[in-house]
Amino acid sequence: MNKRVLVTEPIIPSVIDTLKEHFEVEVGERGTYNDEQALIDAIPEYDALLPMLSNPVTVDVINAGKNLKIIANHAVGYNNIDVEAAHRQNVHVANTPGVLSDSCAEFTMALMLAVGRRLYEAQRHLQDGNFDGWDPLGFLGMELQGSRLGIIGMGRIGQAVARRARALGMEILYHNRSRLAADIEDPLSAEYCEEVADLARRADVLTLHCPLTEETTHLIDNRILSIMGEDTILINTARGPVVDEAALAEALHEGKIGGAGIDVFEKEPEVHPRLKTAPRCLLTPHIASASHKTREAIGMLAANAIIGILQGASPSDIPN
Ligand code: DGY
Repeated sequence: MNKRVLVTEPIIPSVIDTLKEHFEVEVGERGTYNDEQALIDAIPEYDALLPMLSNPVTVDVINAGKNLKIIANHAVGYNNIDVEAAHRQNVHVANTPGVLSDSCAEFTMALMLAVGRRLYEAQRHLQDGNFDGWDPLGFLGMELQGSRLGIIGMGRIGQAVARRARALGMEILYHNRSRLAADIEDPLSAEYCEEVADLARRADVLTLHCPLTEETTHLIDNRILSIMGEDTILINTARGPVVDEAALAEALHEGKIGGAGIDVFEKEPEVHPRLKTAPRCLLTPHIASASHKTREAIGMLAANAIIGILQGASPSDIPN
């Protein structure tokens, strides 16, 4: 009998076509499988699951998947999957490292530039009919050239951001679980900060690229926000819960920090109401990896992991 694959919502069509060359493929309607029970009900029918990061692949989902061999997440982050439960059931978990680093890094730079130079406020000013000619004091912002960038999480994406920031003339400070080797640090002239607080104190722009874990949940809280300078900008393209969203909203409303560019939220798709009205804050709907090229590459990597595992490849040959 043909093996069956559940792709939880529509993705780039060429990826679905590739899977269909090998398997029976069901593509869910957008949002259907954001509900745990819907996944529990569907999963017994399938040999492989290709979920989105909005799908809760819990222990109960995994235990219900009596034929399940692989979960290939359509993302590099996999905090939506109970990986330990999967491994207990001998279900392989794959993610998509590498292919989205450039896209996320470019988007991070776009947020930095947009918030630093106040692009969205300027556009609104003009659209509201308030442009009354060149103003020597209008929309003064922060130049990235010569500013200090603090990077939290110096994996593939953090390093891709650092390379771009260096090209724009920024100084690089970073915090990471462990210090990087000199052959990575030196070309970036990157300085390691053991303490997040130290980084927050010294950076002009603080950008987050760490995974969501117990240790990183609310890493950026009231204490760190109070340490940041009143001109410092916070960028988050990692995971929403790394930042205490309520504390960030208050810090922006009270002018404790200089601004924020936020692509990910604590309880997506909800956004804290005080954040939506906060000044000097650019909010985007989790789109850092949203280029055609990258979304196809993400899908193909996940599809190839499924093809490999269902055709008997060793899990060690598949990205974990
Ligand atoms: C990821 O891959 O983890 C991003 O957040 C979504 O593209």
